[in-house]
Amino acid sequence: MGYGAMQLAGPGVFGPPKDHQQAVKVLRNAVESGVNHIDTSDFYGPHITNQIISEALHPYRDGLVIVTKIAARRGADKSWIPALSKEEITQAVHDNLKNLKLDVLDVVNLRGMFHPHHAHEGSIEAPLTVLAELQHKGLIRHLGLSNVTRTQIEEGQRLCEIVCVQNNYNVINRGDDAIIDLLAKDGIAYVPFFPLGGFTPIQSSTLSSIAQILEATPMQVALAWLLKRSPNILLIPGTSSVAHLTENLQAADLVLPPEAIEGLEKLN
Ligand SMILES: NC(=O)c1ccc[n+]([C@@H]2O[C@H](COP(=O)([O-])OP(=O)(O)OC[C@H]3O[C@@H](n4cnc5c(N)ncnc54)[C@H](OP(=O)(O)O)[C@@H]3O)[C@@H](O)[C@H]2O)c1
Repeated sequence: MGYGAMQLAGPGVFGPPKDHQQAVKVLRNAVESGVNHIDTSDFYGPHITNQIISEALHPYRDGLVIVTKIAARRGADKSWIPALSKEEITQAVHDNLKNLKLDVLDVVNLRGMFHPHHAHEGSIEAPLTVLAELQHKGLIRHLGLSNVTRTQIEEGQRLCEIVCVQNNYNVINRGDDAIIDLLAKDGIAYVPFFPLGGFTPIQSSTLSSIAQILEATPMQVALAWLLKRSPNILLIPGTSSVAHLTENLQAADLVLPPEAIEGLEKLN
């Protein structure tokens, strides 16, 4: 169970958080509770989320893996502008290193920018080749992909080693079922973004009634289902609140009985 840092920036993932000290507290609490995987990007804020991560956690605990993603920059109007040229990618890697106070980035995901939240076809060869060159220079340990199709994953695997894929997936949005199973066979991590439904968390009467029976919350059930779904799934639920963080981490211990899983399968 990891933690996704996107919710730490201000509204629209732009500007500073409402409560800076609370953001620092959430991050410290996550790591103290055993989280060893934090997902971020230098385009959250922009720069601000990474700066809060380094303020809260640097020097980093051994074994903490910080995963970042590149492919966009932010307009002054909060827009997300594709940034996939060699210069922009190189700049983004250096911005992440600077703001996270790192000499090497653990994992960099190349994010497909063809659609905001859904993977769309298009070659990823040019930007991934730039990232692979930066990896050879020693600035990146591992490469991953985000918001990508099966064809793009296969293209990526022909170009370099891909250690993880981060796509939009949760208990009510199961378009990536086949991709998850294929990646599991290859031992590649699948990291669903929007595991709780994203900016508008999942609302479902079935989910709520299963949660009630299990004396858990709907969000805990949604996360426990993902953990049960496949052994290669790693979770990065996002929250700006310590109470939600604690609740989400507890989902790792929630056991779903077969009848609950059967009910949850019908949500798709
Ligand atoms: N690769 C990509 O393109 C991409 C896209 C989006 C996100 N991501 C990554 O994926 C991570 C997770 O996605 P996400 O944060 O957008 O969505 P999410 O984890 O599905 O849900 C976050 C939303 O759920 C709320 N929430 C969290 N825990 C809750 C709980 N226990 N009870 C009720 N509400 C709860 C949060 O509000 P509160 O702050 O009030 O808790 C926030 O509104 C991000 O942090 C980011 O690192 C990647």
